[in-house]
Amino acid sequence: MAVLTGAGSSAESGVPTFRGAGGHWQRFRPQDLASPEAFERDPEFVWSWYDARRSDVAAVAPNAGHYALARLEARINDCTVITQNVDGLHQAAGSANVVELHGSLWRLRCVACGAQPLDRRTPMPVLPPRCQRCSGLLRPAVVWFGEMLSEEALAASEAACERAEVVLVAGTSATVQPAASLPLLGKGNGAYIVEVNTEETPLTPEADVSLRGKTAQLLPMLVDRFEQCSTASD
Ligand code: OAD
Repeated sequence: MAVLTGAGSSAESGVPTFRGAGGHWQRFRPQDLASPEAFERDPEFVWSWYDARRSDVAAVAPNAGHYALARLEARINDCTVITQNVDGLHQAAGSANVVELHGSLWRLRCVACGAQPLDRRTPMPVLPPRCQRCSGLLRPAVVWFGEMLSEEALAASEAACERAEVVLVAGTSATVQPAASLPLLGKGNGAYIVEVNTEETPLTPEADVSLRGKTAQLLPMLVDRFEQCSTASD
C-alpha cells in the first residue's frame, strides 16, 4: 500500500493547511516566504516565518488519522507513507516508513557546504542560524517554489506507488506536482485508489472510492475495518 498525505491530514492537529480558509497561501505570497530568491533577499525574514511554524508544530500532537496510518503500517508488509507535510507528525505517531517528499522543518541545510543537521530547537536562539562546520547560512531543508524535489525521495515515492495494490490519498488538494500525479502512476499499474478529503479534488474523478470527511475520523474507521477483515481472513 502507498499512502499519499497532505496538509489536510495535519489540520486536526492544529497545523494550518495551505489553500483552504485560514491557509498559509491565503495570508502570504509563497514567493515572499518559500523561495530561494526570498531567502537570498532576506534570510532573517524567511527564517522568522519558519521559526514560528516550527514552534507551532512543536506544540501540537499527531491526531487519530496519523495514529491510524501507523497501525496500518504495522499490519501490512509493504506500506509507505509519502507525505507532502514537513511537520514530522507521521513519525511522531509511529510511522517508520515515511518519505518526506517536500522535506522537513526539523532538518536544516547549509547553503555553503551542504551539511544537513537535524535541529529541533524552538525558537532558534539566533536568526538566521549558521553552520557549525563552515559558518555558512543554514536554511530549512524544505522544498521551495521553483526547486526540484529530492531525486531519492521522488524515486522512492514512484516505486511505492508503482508496486502498490492500493493507493490511499488523504488530505491533499492534489494540485501540486509531482505529488499529485503519484496516485495516477499507481492507477496506471492497476492500483485501487481511495481518497479521503473534506472536499472534492481534481483526483476525485480518478478515485475508485472517494470518502468525504475528516482524516482523523475516517482513517481510524477505515483501518478498524481493514483489521477486522484481515483478522477474519487469517
Ligand atoms: P492544501 O492546503 O493545498 O490542501 C489541503 C487539502 O486537505 C484540501 O483538499 C482540503 O479539502 C483537505 N482537508 C482539509 N482539512 C481536512 C481534514 N481534516 N481531513 C481531510 N481533508 C482535509 O495542502 P496540500 O495538498 O498538502 O508545498 O498542499 C500541497 C503542497 O502545496 C504543500 O506541501 C506545500 C504547498 O505549497 C510546498 O511547500 C512545496
